[in-house]
Amino acid sequence: GATMLASAVLGTSVASATTVGFSQIGSESGWRAAETTVTKKEAEKRGIDLKFADAQQKQENQIKAIRSFIAQGVDAILVAPVVETGWDSVLEEAKDAEIPVILLDRTIKASDDLYLTAVTSDQVHEGKVAGNWLVEAVGDRDCNIVELQGTTGSSPAIARKKGFEEAIAGSDNLEIIRSQTGDFTRTKGKEVMESFLKSEDGGKNICALYAHNDDMALGAIQAIKEAGLKPGEDILVVSIDAVPDIFKALAAGEANATVELTPNMAGPAFDVLEAYLADGTEPEKWIQTESKLYTQADDPMKVYEEKKDLGY
Ligand code: AHR
Repeated sequence: GATMLASAVLGTSVASATTVGFSQIGSESGWRAAETTVTKKEAEKRGIDLKFADAQQKQENQIKAIRSFIAQGVDAILVAPVVETGWDSVLEEAKDAEIPVILLDRTIKASDDLYLTAVTSDQVHEGKVAGNWLVEAVGDRDCNIVELQGTTGSSPAIARKKGFEEAIAGSDNLEIIRSQTGDFTRTKGKEVMESFLKSEDGGKNICALYAHNDDMALGAIQAIKEAGLKPGEDILVVSIDAVPDIFKALAAGEANATVELTPNMAGPAFDVLEAYLADGTEPEKWIQTESKLYTQADDPMKVYEEKKDLGY
């Protein structure tokens, strides 16, 4: 009452800014850092008060952050869930507090009434796009593939593996001979690639690398060069994300293909959230972003320049 009166007298609005908590995974990749930048920018543009929490790759930190957002009484919560499982209790708590939760870029294994919507790509499809590209590229040559997986237990690692395997399943000449996690980081990608090269005749037995993200591919490209081989020629390189640096590698002939993942998950998330908070409009349970393939033929340096305005 008193506040309302004071606001009326002062001519200000009583409605305070929408407050949104964002539990981010960390900053393991260039893509992840761009998603954080875009989310902060989108919030600012819309006058949303964003509370940001970096979980340093740990689910327990994400759960703590979500609990703290609930305790603070935020209007909504965004979560990029590091792994697929283990979210039920904390999401029940958010539901009990009537705080809508939106999943960003990764999916979870839980009942879909525990969140408002999920803004993600079709991660199985991404793996298929990468695999189909490779099937085409090698034709009927025999091809031993090494795979760098994303974070163990994360939806992109599980789905991108599945999609790729489905794409190559009909081609007896393509075979995954090694597959290990590189945790979506450049450092790990390089390290694991070094071990693959060592165990596969210095790399001579490897025809292609499939990496679940560009950062691991970029680390692996470094390892391939240090082993005295030509990435992009001796070993074909296909990955996912479409970060600026992979376009430099495509332009240099050191990478062959990437599948684009937009870092702008927050834009569509805030659009549906604003509608939901305004009049209860229920969004679709899945807001799917595009997965476009880029190769060396797509004017990589031009795309590199364009990417710089997208939060990278
Ligand atoms: O969930 C999306 C994935 O997470 C991106 O492809 C990868 O770079 C990030 O770490």
